[in-house]
Amino acid sequence: MHDRRRFLGALAYPAAVALAPACFTTRGAERVRGAFADAHTLDPDDVARDEARWFEVQQAFTCDRSTVNLNNGGVCPAPEVVQAAMKRHLDYSNTLPSQHLWQTLEPQKETVRDGLARLFGCHREEVAITRNASESLQICQFGLDLERGDEVLTSDQDYPRMLTTFEQRVRRDGIVLKKIRLPVPCEDFGALLGLYERELTPRTKMILVSHVVNITGQRMPVKELVELGRSRGIPVIVDGAHGFANLDVRLAELGCDYYGTSLHKWLFAPHGTGMLFVRRDKIRGLWPLMAATEKQDDDVRKFEEIGTHPAANFLAIGEALAFHHGIGPANKEARLRYLRSVWTQRLCANPRTRLNTSLAKPFSGTHANVRFEGLDTRELHTWLWEKHKIFTVAILHPDCEGLRITPSVHNTLQELERFCDALEEALEKGIAT
Ligand SMILES: Cc1ncc(COP(=O)(O)O)c(C=O)c1O
Repeated sequence: MHDRRRFLGALAYPAAVALAPACFTTRGAERVRGAFADAHTLDPDDVARDEARWFEVQQAFTCDRSTVNLNNGGVCPAPEVVQAAMKRHLDYSNTLPSQHLWQTLEPQKETVRDGLARLFGCHREEVAITRNASESLQICQFGLDLERGDEVLTSDQDYPRMLTTFEQRVRRDGIVLKKIRLPVPCEDFGALLGLYERELTPRTKMILVSHVVNITGQRMPVKELVELGRSRGIPVIVDGAHGFANLDVRLAELGCDYYGTSLHKWLFAPHGTGMLFVRRDKIRGLWPLMAATEKQDDDVRKFEEIGTHPAANFLAIGEALAFHHGIGPANKEARLRYLRSVWTQRLCANPRTRLNTSLAKPFSGTHANVRFEGLDTRELHTWLWEKHKIFTVAILHPDCEGLRITPSVHNTLQELERFCDALEEALEKGIAT
């Protein structure tokens, strides 16, 4: 017993804390890696249809299969290997917090920064690890100086919290918020760009645009808008909540200077993780949300000065990155598109189905918004959950009312069939209880 204790005591972190849970959880991740070992040599659209591979991915999650989760756009579950890593880091933190948390674990965050930078295709000194997209974007929305009367431009389909952020600046600083109305769905990037261009004035000081609009799945012409903003000296903040690790897109294709995203959505990292990219020469000009020293003016870590916080969430982003690469970014996007095609093809056969989303690749992300003539959207959402335990989101925006359907890689084809069966039942028999 004595020897055994000495042996365990001598084990270096993370081996000592990794012993029990990891035995079970890494197996799932290894099976995924094995299932995709040759996938980089194949066409992602073929990989997307190979159910044997995706079975291994589905099994790597701990979903409650008595329900069908079609709201992964809100927040995604993390694979078991990510959950286990987080718990491991948390347990270790609590053994001697001020030493283990700050001296051992916090410095390890640098490898996560490096991994995120590699995935996005930027320099590691341009990546801040945050708690979510809200924090990343608010750093930008609050961090640029604006004077009374300055205008900020966005759309009325951007994320409500980001609109609230500007609305607070309207009340506090006297800025002017202009919101474009977006056509739904839209397959004309020129037209979208024109809508923004028409609203620009010499007082426009900031543009906020979603990479992929959360309520419809509309993809926006980010690169062109960034170029337009740059030509007028206007910073463009890109909300990447539904772009990053969902679409196989890197910085070079976007060309932006500011990009904020959550990592607990499509990267499948622990809840409470996000990323902010700020181009190197823009870091000095952007104030952090919480104060940092003057010495940190050019250091992207100034955006991480949030006081004591858990290291566990941030470090387990490493496992999420490994899982993402194990599948392959292109395969993941292709699978998400395939899942969308499975349910849209079947339901669009019914003449009462109305899609609020283009299905053409350049104009959409991987999710869609759908309405059914004769069925009240809010009641349908409730009926799907109460009768079938299928979870969706009711979007009640006047220009795109409908159910937002966001399957993820853990969803099975049988679950999508259950969703389609339920909808066909609703269309045929109604949903009155
Ligand atoms: C487009 C968009 N931006 C920002 C956010 C905020 O993300 P979080 O709540 O993770 O901060 C969301 C969340 O759904 C979103 O869809």
